[in-house]
Order: sequence, then C-alpha cells, then structure tokens
Amino acid sequence: MGDEATKRAAGRAAAELVEDGTAIGLGTGSTVRFAMERLAERIRDGLSIVGVPTSHQTAARARALGIPLASLNDVPHLAVAIDGADQVDPALRLIKGRGAAQTREKAVAAAADRLVIVVGEAKLADPLSAPVPIEVLPFACAFAAARLAALGGSGSVREGVSKDGPVVTDNGGFVIDWSFGPIGDPEGLEQAIEAIPGVIAAGLFTGFAEKTVVIVGGDGGCRVVSPGSSRPRTGW
Ligand code: 5RP
Repeated sequence: MGDEATKRAAGRAAAELVEDGTAIGLGTGSTVRFAMERLAERIRDGLSIVGVPTSHQTAARARALGIPLASLNDVPHLAVAIDGADQVDPALRLIKGRGAAQTREKAVAAAADRLVIVVGEAKLADPLSAPVPIEVLPFACAFAAARLAALGGSGSVREGVSKDGPVVTDNGGFVIDWSFGPIGDPEGLEQAIEAIPGVIAAGLFTGFAEKTVVIVGGDGGCRVVSPGSSRPRTGW
C-alpha cells in the first residue's frame, strides 16, 4: 500500500465513527481530506452533521464537498474531532502543524469529546523527534526564538513556498519550526514552550491521550490504537 492508500484507508475509517446529528471538528491536511470525502458520501445518504473547520483549506474543501459548516463560536462543544498528525508516540502524544494549523486544531481537539487521529504507519514514532511547529505573534518572533534557544535545539521561521518571506497563518501568526531532537519529556516541553510570552500555540499535543483514538492505515488495512488497546506501554 502506498502512502496515499494508507491515508485514504485511515481517513475513510474515521468518517465511519461519526454519528448522525453531531457537530464535529475537521482538522487539516491530506489525510483529513479522505475523511471529508467519505463524510460527504454519507451526507448524500442522509447523515446530518455540522463541521467546524480548522483552516481556510479545510473550509474550502468542505464547502466544495457539501459539508455544512459552523464556527467554533457557533458550536463550542463537539462530539468528535478528526485530524491528522506528523508524529504519534505510543502514549498517543502528537506533533502537529506541518500545515500551520495547530492553534485551531488544538482548540478544536480540546472542544471535542473524542479525538480521532488518522495517520499512515510512517507517522508512528518513539520518542517524538520531529521539529515542533510553534505559532508566534510576528511582533514577538525574535524574542520567542531566543527563549526557545534557551530550551535547547535550533530552528527557524518557516518560509513561504509561493510567497517571499515568512508563512503567515490563518490567524496572522508566524511559524517557527524548532528541532529539539528526541523529546524526553513532551508534557514539560509543551508547557515550557507555551509559557513563552508571544507564543500562540505549540504543535505538541500531550493533553488529549485519554480521549484519543489513532487509526493507522497500513499494508494490512487499518488498525485502531486507543488508550485501552492491549499493546506494550512503550514502543510501537
Ligand atoms: C496541519 C497538521 C496536519 O494534520 C498534519 O501535518 C498531517 O497532515 P497530513 O495528513 O497531510 O500528513 O497538523 O497543521
């Protein structure tokens, strides 16, 4: 199974968990897109839901697919949020933010009773070690970078691809991608980053494990990992 096929399998499986009459969070990225495509099919078959999108990209895709939308201000409590991740560790802690949407994704994850994470096998990591995307106020960018350096590691402000200069998020922020190397204490690191004045949100998600279900698309189909799954406490 290729990368696209594993994402498709995981995304579509997540859409099957959505119940009629609920409000759901719609994360951002290429795997969530497959979940939305399946949700659109289910809507055509009579499913009634409203989705809270976490980015302009997701909102546009949802509109094109005919998924009804609301804002988190309209619907502050969600039954479930479906989202992708850049890395997942065995304790179901996440690194997110490749799409620079982690601030809204974190708010939507917090608002949801369940967080369904859809990934391919390649995203499973132990320990977390990918660069952590950190949204910052442009005003405090250099200050925040100096404070991050004091925590260790190194990084830089994310540059646009079809734009000169920094990526500007859907919230008007900049993103600093910071490599800490293997992360020994993800909870402590998330707290330390988010305590820096000017940081809006870190792409470390350590507080949602108890309500997280990870659907992993792989060669043999999908497997579902939840806090109650029987598996080693450490290692995948
Ligand atoms: C966006 C994210 C994405 O969910 C994450 O990067 C995974 O994306 P993809 O499913 O395209 O691999 O955090 O900010």
